[in-house]
Amino acid sequence: MECRLDKQVAIVTGASSGLGYACAEQLADAGAAVVINYHSQPKPAEELASRIKAAGGRAITVGADVSQEADVASLFAKTLEAFGGVDILVANSGMQKDAPLTAMTLDQWEAVLKVNLTGQFLCVQTAVRQFEAQGDRGVSRARGKIICMSSVHQVIPWAGHVNYAASKGGIMMMMQTIAQEVAEKGIRVNAIAPGAIRTAINASETEGEKGAALLKLIPYGRIGVAEDVGKAAVWLASDQSDYVVGTTIFVDGGMTLYPEFRGNG
Ligand code: BGC
Repeated sequence: MECRLDKQVAIVTGASSGLGYACAEQLADAGAAVVINYHSQPKPAEELASRIKAAGGRAITVGADVSQEADVASLFAKTLEAFGGVDILVANSGMQKDAPLTAMTLDQWEAVLKVNLTGQFLCVQTAVRQFEAQGDRGVSRARGKIICMSSVHQVIPWAGHVNYAASKGGIMMMMQTIAQEVAEKGIRVNAIAPGAIRTAINASETEGEKGAALLKLIPYGRIGVAEDVGKAAVWLASDQSDYVVGTTIFVDGGMTLYPEFRGNG
């Protein structure tokens, strides 16, 4: 089974690091032209675009804040200008601003909801409008594919992270509702829910003593790498998953299987 995305165009938001970076890299590897969106770090985004181009692929970088409607409009406009259409959206941008409930400021609550939930809403809405406007591009069975980046915390409550968990729970219902609404237009909307994945940003959480504690929550016995998520994105974007609609793929080494119950309960 080969997941190829030749002649297709993919936008990946929040792609200058971590999961978004890996998704963009692997979508390009599968043949897609990629639009690498970044918010505040142009340099790694540009380096990734150069590497993709050096390997014979197509890539551009676009700076945009996904929580701003005008920025999202310009992200799509620049995509069309460069590549003439869009077939795949990976709505990945997200952030954490952790605090215990009683210490959390309204700013922390709103900032996370604005990027994680409203940002995905704006990108998905704009993608669906574009899929409708451009019609069938003849490059894949579906008219368009959308992948929302969720988290195991769409189902696992997470003390000290109420803004983040609420945003991810919201993404789950947003994704399912939109999937139900647009499937008849030939558009597939799904989500990926990563568990603990080692990235540059959370290195301190995934190594040493903290890493060992984390491993107890992962039946499969390893902390994930960003490529684990990138590979799931390629599959969900490809025709190999053409009958998969409104589903969340958990890429979590079994974290959502209540591992504390091993030997207990
Ligand atoms: C968070 C990580 C966390 C993981 C498992 C993810 O959504 O971004 O920081 O390690 O969930 O708790």
